Order: sequence, then C-alpha cells, then structure tokens
Amino acid sequence: MDLFSPLSVGSLNLKHRIVLAPMTRIRADENTLAPTELTALYYSQRSSSGGFLISEAVHISPEATPIWPIYQSVRELGGQVPGIWTEAQTNAWKMVTRAVHARGGLISCQLLHAGRVAQPEIGEHPLVHDGGFPIPSVCSSATPIVHSNEVGNDYNWDQKSVTPRALERHEIARICQDYQHAAKNALAAGFDAVELHAAHGYLIEQFLADGVNKRNDSYGGSVRHRCRILFEIIEALIDVVGPNRLGVRLSPVASNSHNKQVYFGVTHSNPESVYEYVVESLNQYKLAYLLLTEPRVGGLSNCTDSLLESSPPLSAKYRKIYKGVMMGAGGFNPNSAKEAIDRGHYDLIAFGRWFLSNPDLVARLKGGDDLNIYHRASFYGGGEQGYTDYPDIQALRNQSLSAIEQVPQNMIG
Ligand SMILES: Cc1cc2nc3c(=O)[nH]c(=O)nc-3n(C[C@H](O)[C@H](O)[C@H](O)COP(=O)(O)O)c2cc1C
Repeated sequence: MDLFSPLSVGSLNLKHRIVLAPMTRIRADENTLAPTELTALYYSQRSSSGGFLISEAVHISPEATPIWPIYQSVRELGGQVPGIWTEAQTNAWKMVTRAVHARGGLISCQLLHAGRVAQPEIGEHPLVHDGGFPIPSVCSSATPIVHSNEVGNDYNWDQKSVTPRALERHEIARICQDYQHAAKNALAAGFDAVELHAAHGYLIEQFLADGVNKRNDSYGGSVRHRCRILFEIIEALIDVVGPNRLGVRLSPVASNSHNKQVYFGVTHSNPESVYEYVVESLNQYKLAYLLLTEPRVGGLSNCTDSLLESSPPLSAKYRKIYKGVMMGAGGFNPNSAKEAIDRGHYDLIAFGRWFLSNPDLVARLKGGDDLNIYHRASFYGGGEQGYTDYPDIQALRNQSLSAIEQVPQNMIG
C-alpha cells in the first residue's frame, strides 16, 4: 500500500490516503457563529479528487462552545468557533460542503462538546441570550481545570477557569439529543460523514478519565461506567447517520512517564485500561473509521522533544485490537507518513499543520515538491492571513518572491 492507493472508508470511496486533520481556526462569523465564504475557500483549497477532509471542531450547542482568549491572536484579532445548532449555521455549512464537492472531495463534520473547557460568557452572546439554552460549563463532575506546569501538560491554561457543574444523570439523554440534532444538521448541510470528537480532554474524555470523573452513579466509577456516555453518544449518532458515515477520534495516553500527554488537565490513573476497553468495544459498531492522535505533538504541548521521540506509536498496540479502518494523526511528516502506510501501521494519515500551510499538500507529496512552512501566530483568529493566503505550487511558480518560506520534504524530520 502507498499514500496514493484507494480505500473504501465506510460508505466513502477515497482515491488516496492523505486526510486533512480537523483544525480549529477560530474564524467563524462573530454574530452567527457560522462559517463564512472564507471558510468555504479554505476547505476548497485543500480539496482533491477522492480526498477526505475533516472539518474543524464544530460545536453542537451553546453549552458545548468555548471561547478562546487564551490565544493572543484571538485577543487581538477576534474570532469565534463555529456551531451547527441553528438553521443559519447549517445553511452556511452548505457553502463549505458544496465547495469541497465541486473539487471532487469528501468532508466529515467533527462534532464537539468541550465540556469544562467552555466558558459561561457564551451565554451573553445575542444568539444564545434569552434562548433558554443550557450554558457552560458542564463536566462529568464539578472538577475544575487545574493548571499544571508538569511536563506533558498541554496548553498553558491562563484563562479564567470556572468550576464546572456536574451533569445530572437525566441530562445525559439531552446531551445525546444535542449530538443528534447537530448530526442531522450536518447531513442537511451536505457533509459526507460525521466524526465524534472524543479526544483531547473535552467532555467525553472528562467522563473517561478518573482524574476528573468522580461520579458514583452509572456514569462514574468503573471503566465500563465511565465509558458509558461515549457509547450512548455513538449509538445516538448511528441512529442518525448510520455506522458507515461515522468516525470517532480518540487520544489515548499512557501512564508511563515516557508517553505521557495531558490535555486540558485531564488525568487518568490507568489510561491503558480505559483505551483498551474503548477501542475493543468500538469493534462492535463497524464504524467508518477510528482516528487516533499520536501523543507527540510538541508544538501544541509542553512535551519535550525527547519525551515525544521516545513515545512508541499508538498503532503498535491498537492495530492489534481494532478491526476497522484506522487513521493516524500527530507529528507525521512526508517520510513517516509514507512509512506508516507502507508498513500497514495506519490505513490513512491525517496531516494537520503541513496541510494548513500547503493547500495542495496532496499534489506536493505526490510530486516531491518543497513544502510551505507554517506560521503559528496565524493558526487561530483573524482573517485570510495565514488561512487562505498560503500559495499553491502554481502561485509560487508565478511569483518571483514568496513571503512564505519553503522547506524540502526530506529536511522535515
Ligand atoms: C491549529 C490547530 C487546530 C486544531 N484543532 C483541532 C480540532 O478542532 N479538533 C481536533 O480533533 N484536533 C485539532 N487539532 C489537532 C490536529 O487534528 C492534529 O492532531 C495535530 O495538528 C497534529 O497533527 P500535525 O502534526 O500533522 O499537525 C488542531 C491542531 C492545530 C495545529
């Protein structure tokens, strides 16, 4: 197998194995929290015939929606994350799916509930105010995010963190309905699939992890109880989209000190017992795909390089457990991606940052061309700069001087 061999993923027929990883860009319309024409252009630029894109995290309800003043660029330039709970948001997403489809691409909508990472201030937004919506922040238990300087802690959490409210048992059915509502809207908006974001320390992982989940009802305590909400949400989503249009994202971590990554302060005493159970149990659903985050994304975390390099790939363990299509993300470069596919470690590779800065990444990987270097300062918030203005190869050839530097593929290590 190579990166350019075709693959059926649930009901989707892909022509290659290079996927756009989900990436929050915090550029939704401030009033509607909907994607804009610029969003459609961004996804369209990254589309290719038979290529698979995963949207940025799209929020299922006001309660699910964080605001991101932790990023200086958002403080300076503004920006919101998009939702998919209103009709206007759903209609705006149609612009995106049409633009992707026009170029022969396919796109999944990543659905997120951020749990305790979201802030109550969203309740003051005109779209939410007086709407009778539950507002943040909710969690498995009333466990606040504790800022930690420990190696492996991810973001420098310097924004106000409120103590979240523990969801009442009866509210879990409402959370499942919120996911269903969002998934129906995603299908109405023309998405080809839906991805459940169960990774990176957001609501679902806040249930899975015993460092956060202190409940003593049937959603807390044992591994099976802590994972219950995940499977209830998966089943609720399958009722709407079917298993072969549903993907799930997980970010398994390990308890040993070499492979330890902590997302938003979410800690586990024995993560292996959780993730082995979850991945094994996912087999029963025959999902379109499972996306795993390799815990080696230094740029987004405080993990040291040596810690990251010493981490054995997750695929080594989970490939043996999981029977379906497996996608890997996190720190792949052109060579390691080729190798991961050649050796069968993963079926698909999702590129984040290199796809962000190279709209025509698929063609560049095929042609061996140099890659544009990404600029972290424009990852989040703002407008077209660092979003839709990265040049493709054609634009570079037509320009004698580019503001964006390039790097040869074999120099990316
Ligand atoms: C700007 C940015 C935003 C991200 N937002 C999301 C997101 O919304 N949902 C998600 O699951 N992962 C998100 N991630 C993680 C990426 O999907 C991916 O796992 C990460 O970038 C590592 O892959 P890379 O080394 O190819 O960049 C984000 C990463 C970046 C760089």
